[in-house]
Amino acid sequence: MNSPRSPSLFSPLQVGALTLPNRIVIAPMCQYSAEDGCMTDWHLIHLGQLALSGAGLLIIEATAVEAIGRITPKDVGLYDDATEAAMARVLKAIRRHSRMPIAIQLGHAGAKGSTRLAWEGIDRPLDAGNWPLVSASPQQYLDGVSDWSHAMTRADMDRVRDDFVRSTRFAAEAGFDWLGLHGAHGHLLSSFISPLTNQRTDEFGGTLANRLRYPLEVFKTVRAAWPQHLPMSVRISAHDWVEGGITPDDAVEIARAFKAAGADLIDCSSGQVSKQEQPVFGRMFQTPFADRVRNEAGIATIAVGAISEADHVNSIIAAGRADLCAIARPHLANPAWTLLESAKIGYTEIEWPKQYRAAKSQLERNLERERAAAAAQGTGDR
Ligand SMILES: Cc1cc2nc3c(=O)[nH]c(=O)nc-3n(C[C@H](O)[C@H](O)[C@H](O)COP(=O)(O)O)c2cc1C
Repeated sequence: MNSPRSPSLFSPLQVGALTLPNRIVIAPMCQYSAEDGCMTDWHLIHLGQLALSGAGLLIIEATAVEAIGRITPKDVGLYDDATEAAMARVLKAIRRHSRMPIAIQLGHAGAKGSTRLAWEGIDRPLDAGNWPLVSASPQQYLDGVSDWSHAMTRADMDRVRDDFVRSTRFAAEAGFDWLGLHGAHGHLLSSFISPLTNQRTDEFGGTLANRLRYPLEVFKTVRAAWPQHLPMSVRISAHDWVEGGITPDDAVEIARAFKAAGADLIDCSSGQVSKQEQPVFGRMFQTPFADRVRNEAGIATIAVGAISEADHVNSIIAAGRADLCAIARPHLANPAWTLLESAKIGYTEIEWPKQYRAAKSQLERNLERERAAAAAQGTGDR
């Protein structure tokens, strides 16, 4: 058991040959700020500040394995020398000042590609310069609005699988510590898994085992190209929130299949597969999926979604509901989320960047005073 001075969230976790110092993961977040797939100074600033935040792992935004695999024209890619050099520059600069393990999330937008930047109309098709879309079956993500995708041919499947492998090699060369495969949110691999987006009549459609065939083929070839001692996770949509779509029961089966193929962890997100979805949002609303997958499929999990306080993380980890907690939006509001939350719960062992140490002791003192004042008034709860 962890003592109050060393809460569950600050217990290290070993995955493969990598040891994460704590259980906080910075979730992948698209920034729509790349140029021709190349990371820019924005990424240096954005990822740079996150890398100083004390989290256990930083996952870089969904990175496209080919240019037509981008969601928008400003997505990050890793598919040629220019995109590789741009990413290597950012990674090298961050590494100079941070020891935080860094993951890449490789993905392909599938039918959700060729759209506008989030702040110019999320999911809406480009006005000009659109590119052809591929997915498991022909579909329009927004009925009557989105561009139509075409069903992947075997040649498309070979090309994209090989693109995943090429990006994996680039990522290994660049020195990433961890590779996350994006199998969620209606993107290409997810479009095969969900019965809502896969109407194929060949061996890649029909039963869940058939629908998993192509995502598993990609996973296995990537696993073989990725250093064996380094972790691989798979992000899935554990619930489509639509009648007839993926359910948490299916998620357990999906996790078993990726575990058998060599996955180290399953990152349990949900939804964004169909606009018919009716998700039930709430505090830690996707954690029950991570819990079921972890305890029924017997594989480590990442919980994500509306986890916003250190106490949420502590309770999830201590109760054995997940092995890691990924936190997205709170990190945009406060890149130093882990440092602030640790001070709030009175945990002082965490290392701050040496340049910021003067702020650490002041913050801890101020919060200690607030706790003492609250306790004196009988309103303190910790
Ligand atoms: C701006 C933004 C960009 C995102 N981009 C990605 C992404 O690239 N890949 C991904 O799997 N999820 C992406 N997500 C989803 C987050 O990783 C996360 O699952 C979701 O925001 C829920 O976590 P939160 O409640 O802590 O924000 C994005 C979310 C936001 C807010």
